[in-house]
Amino acid sequence: MPYYRRSGEIPAKRHTQFRQPDGSLFAEELMGQEGFSSDSSLLYHRHLPTAIVAAEEFDPPAWSRVPNRPLKPRHFRTHKLDTPGADPVLDRAHLLANDDVRLSYVVTDKPSVLYRNAIGDECLYVESGRARIESVFGALDVAEGDYVIIPTSVIYRVVPDGLARILAIEATGHIGPPRRYLSVRGQFLESSPYCERDLRAPTEPFNVDATDVDVYVQHRRGWTRFTYANHPFDLVGWDGCLYPWALSIHDFEPITGRVHQPPPVHQTFEGPNFVICSFVPRKVDYHPLAIPVPYNHHNVDSDEMLFYTGGNYEARRGSGIGQGSISLHPGGFTHGPQPGAAERAIGVDYFDELAVMVDTFRPLDLCEPALSCEDSGYAWTWAGTR
Ligand SMILES: [Fe+2]
Repeated sequence: MPYYRRSGEIPAKRHTQFRQPDGSLFAEELMGQEGFSSDSSLLYHRHLPTAIVAAEEFDPPAWSRVPNRPLKPRHFRTHKLDTPGADPVLDRAHLLANDDVRLSYVVTDKPSVLYRNAIGDECLYVESGRARIESVFGALDVAEGDYVIIPTSVIYRVVPDGLARILAIEATGHIGPPRRYLSVRGQFLESSPYCERDLRAPTEPFNVDATDVDVYVQHRRGWTRFTYANHPFDLVGWDGCLYPWALSIHDFEPITGRVHQPPPVHQTFEGPNFVICSFVPRKVDYHPLAIPVPYNHHNVDSDEMLFYTGGNYEARRGSGIGQGSISLHPGGFTHGPQPGAAERAIGVDYFDELAVMVDTFRPLDLCEPALSCEDSGYAWTWAGTR
């Protein structure tokens, strides 16, 4: 949904003749969502974007996935999954998944294959390091704290600059700002915790000359490896409202209050049947009798995944949670601060915490890599019997 942008050369009027120096037509491509009824962009290619010379089935690494039974709060230590040299797309370690969203993690210093996710949008969160997201729209440099939204079916690859740690949120559908942050015409409202000035996008087309180029496509019936006659990064220009974009979690302005504010104030994006929230360093509750940590709570319609990505998370002190930890607090379980956290927090006026939360309305299953790094004593930490 980001606002209109244009990049490179485009004709004055859409769907009209636009010629290359040799007199041939540029190949116009409309990339749009919801059956020509939602956001779109027009892309102008030097070569036909339809020209494939091969298509082969492909089987990526498969991970088993089991329900959260017995029902328990869980703690996963993602930093035990270090995998330098992993492909940032094909070797993602799947952690939690349902039919709406899949969460995975990768530690890598190697460029990915060229990739298209034809199932839904992806939100990549950079826990640490730097990378360049190269796509058919151009290059976008990202670093620690950046969210990158890659719309469905955009061909892209991840090129780390050194070692990068990335949490990947793959949706079955589209991810965007919460509708309540936007005017009816799509401008960010004054009440939104971020706005247009905080968003970054590719600024100029990024061309690569190559032939017989493989692109790995994740689609609704599996994976296929297409071989394109020419490199898909061959644009002379594009314009529209559909493109990869980035938002730094450090540009998310926290909303605070006299008493404890509920998690929706931290909401950053919405997806189909899930939300993404950012917990950022902030001044905390300033009522004279305020208790700055959360109350015990039970959002009865959600599973809550929290990825601890910086600072120290006061409410979790004593639980074993640390940098890179993921907690899963499922529907059916009441969760809250660790014992003693409420008393300790009284009088504190600032929390130095950084975390990404994904709340899903359908239950999250547990994938094999998550179980391999589980802290199995976490469920008993509130009772002090781990
Ligand atoms: Fe919670």
